[in-house]
Amino acid sequence: VRTQVAIVGAGPAGLLLSHLLAARGIESVVVDQRTREEIEKTIRAGILEHPTVELLDQTGASPRVKTVGNRHDGIELRFEGEGHRIDFPALTGRSVWLFPQHEVLIDLIEVRLAAGQDLRFGVTVDRVDDIETDRPRVFATNPDGSPLEIEADFIVGGDGSRSLVRAAVTGSSTGGHFREYPFAWFGILCEAPPSSEELIYSNSPHGFALISQRSATVQRMYFQCDPETDPNAMSEAEIWDTLQSCVPGTTLQEGPIFQRDVLRFRSFVSYELRRGRAALVGDAAHTVPPTGAKGMNLAVADVVLLDRALGALLNEGDERLLDRYAETALKRIWKAQHFSWWMTNMLHLTPEASEFDRRRQIGELRSVVESEAGRTYLAEAYTGWAFA
Ligand code: DHB
Repeated sequence: VRTQVAIVGAGPAGLLLSHLLAARGIESVVVDQRTREEIEKTIRAGILEHPTVELLDQTGASPRVKTVGNRHDGIELRFEGEGHRIDFPALTGRSVWLFPQHEVLIDLIEVRLAAGQDLRFGVTVDRVDDIETDRPRVFATNPDGSPLEIEADFIVGGDGSRSLVRAAVTGSSTGGHFREYPFAWFGILCEAPPSSEELIYSNSPHGFALISQRSATVQRMYFQCDPETDPNAMSEAEIWDTLQSCVPGTTLQEGPIFQRDVLRFRSFVSYELRRGRAALVGDAAHTVPPTGAKGMNLAVADVVLLDRALGALLNEGDERLLDRYAETALKRIWKAQHFSWWMTNMLHLTPEASEFDRRRQIGELRSVVESEAGRTYLAEAYTGWAFA
């Protein structure tokens, strides 16, 4: 197969890039190892920044984002049993939207297929080669076991945190700045009415909890746990007791739990985002811990930059934007790394925390919620910085 841009990974980054490139008249082939059903059913985060929502809506990438998604005008930070609202429109003039990632993917896949996008599921990429020439190639295996070779002008790795394209770009599958955390999230989906109109980020002596939502009848909640926790080792009653103890001041609406998972926390930034005729976007380029909901939004910001750079390269033969892609993207990536690290450390209970550490943390939370400057920083970062 011959195309202009070979995109590895049909996640939000890869699919959105194919959509934006098509609007510039640039054709692409998108391949993913997973089936369409797996992609559309995997539960990920739920919060979209203001710039992300505007882009998905205005470019037609997600026709349902504003009609099925819900606008949220604030979040609550809770500590010492008291809630403190961060009012996004009052502080920044902007809001966020709750619209789960798999819903974005359902829209993107439908829109791309309707536009005739060459989108191939169940394709395993074995290696990418010749990225330092102007005819880079992807070597892959079709679902029936036959070989697939894609020759392109450019290769994009949107293939997630275990990216294969990254190995070609950095020369190593692990090459990057890396940080681990001594906790994880125990996440549940349950059938119950919402416990709160807005999201609650709660710091408590029993650890962190996040009360989020999916719909009028389905809720998403998380509580801090040990990274080694087996999600099936806890009874529903134990899960509710733990969650409730982490949100003092609110009585949670309980209901049957129909999905549970343990999410590991990592911060990662690849040493290189581009080499020759290949570049990385989204989780292939970086990972953030989930507190603050930056993951998918950061992927979208990468794609906005790479779309422009590939437009200049392939439509005008101008490589200058591509040469600046990594430098420009990394500015936002490191701001989001800091915000995700900061929200995580400010809200979670570290296993070895001393009394000093605990009281300092409350002092930090208080200095954010009691200061308009503090609340404004949080609101600006949460609702999303304008695209570069
Ligand atoms: C959700 C996840 C997050 O990491 C977050 O900060 C807010 C909401 C969610 O899954 O709903």
